[in-house]
Amino acid sequence: MTTAIEVRGLRKDFPVRDKGILGPRTLKSAVDGLDLDIPRGRVTGLLGLNGAGKTTTIKILATLLRPSAGTVRVDGLDAVADARAVRRRINLIAGGERMVYSRMTGRENLWYFGQLYDVPRAELRRRTGELLELVGLSDAADTMVERYSRGMTQRLTIARGLVNRPDYLLLDEPTLGLDAPIARDLRRVVADLAAHDGTGVLLTSHYLAEVEELCGHVYVISAGRHLAQGSPAELKAATGSHRTVRLTVTDPSERTRAVADAFGATREPLPDGGELITLRHPDDMAGPLTAAVVGAGGSVGGLEIAEASLEDAILTLAESGVAGLVSPEDAGPTGSRAAGEQNGSASGAASDGQEAGSGRCPAEAAGTPAEAAGTPAGTAGPSDGPAGSRRATVGAKGGSR
Ligand SMILES: Nc1ncnc2c1ncn2[C@@H]1O[C@H](COP(=O)(O)OP(=O)(O)OP(=O)(O)O)[C@@H](O)[C@H]1O
Ligand SMILES: [Mg+2]
Repeated sequence: MTTAIEVRGLRKDFPVRDKGILGPRTLKSAVDGLDLDIPRGRVTGLLGLNGAGKTTTIKILATLLRPSAGTVRVDGLDAVADARAVRRRINLIAGGERMVYSRMTGRENLWYFGQLYDVPRAELRRRTGELLELVGLSDAADTMVERYSRGMTQRLTIARGLVNRPDYLLLDEPTLGLDAPIARDLRRVVADLAAHDGTGVLLTSHYLAEVEELCGHVYVISAGRHLAQGSPAELKAATGSHRTVRLTVTDPSERTRAVADAFGATREPLPDGGELITLRHPDDMAGPLTAAVVGAGGSVGGLEIAEASLEDAILTLAESGVAGLVSPEDAGPTGSRAAGEQNGSASGAASDGQEAGSGRCPAEAAGTPAEAAGTPAGTAGPSDGPAGSRRATVGAKGGSR
């Protein structure tokens, strides 16, 4: 038996009215033929711009939405036919949605959700305390959630997502609205769960520094379709994402300008009479550029090298829509694909956008409204800046002038 979430040919159609509320309803695919492998013991990323289909995919994996076509298998169990068994193995933390009860205390919420997952009482008592401590809510454990701030509610949502020690954790923008220390703690917990407990994690996030820190493998999707996959480094290399070198020349001359132009760099006058030379290139051009400027008699007042960012790579991919830059064969995390499972149709799948299952289940017991599937849960949040920006000040002085 494969221990992984295997998604094959996944499709989800929603009825939409293009011409106002009285117009005819047509079906639009939010997810359109996705194949994903989410193995245990690793954090896998699912990236794409707003509306790419990330939340829809995660909701199907969490059994909150039925697929219109395709299959989702969790450790070999079908997410539609064996939904109950699948729900015991997974949990979901969504940053943009309220997934806890406001008229209960934090402790009562965890107790309630833990019982839904059949966590034994003694263990649940211990785990509730540990989780409240983990998310920094011990002091507010017995306060009604309606009195929590947004960040506190989000922290409780994280604790709720961990209460059943899921084999697979689905994280949909989990750090949205969290302050920096708690976001950092959550990243640490997630990395630890994957590395030490063997939890399989699927992460969507617009904070790409977070993705680079946690994910060994990333899928990039657009309009519900596969665009590329690979490690963050592979995606950057495949898109030719460029390092940026910024070099300050304190005493620019015709010769240093000619050097900058020969390298294809841009030049910008600085208020103090100097000039800023900026060069974007896939290779590290800091050395050759500095040497050439100094060779042309220039004095280098400062040098900054910004590494290529995953943000650049994702934007390039999403804007160009270039499919298959990194092939699954080159970069698949599990390597294996069950050919017989490709594009299978989920029995009894709804195609009308309804939430799956009418009964209450741990994953949906918080009463997530059906409409929430369409909630624009996230905005294209700020990135944490270029990953690994290096700064160096060089006091090189040119020779002959
Ligand atoms: N219940 C629904 N009814 C109709 N359309 C929907 C519904 N839910 C989602 N959609 C549409 O499906 C597409 C994908 O939405 P989804 O929320 O999965 O995107 P996303 O990648 O999570 O975006 P974001 O980064 O903004 O969170 C969008 O065009 C959205 O409008
Ligand atoms: Mg979303």
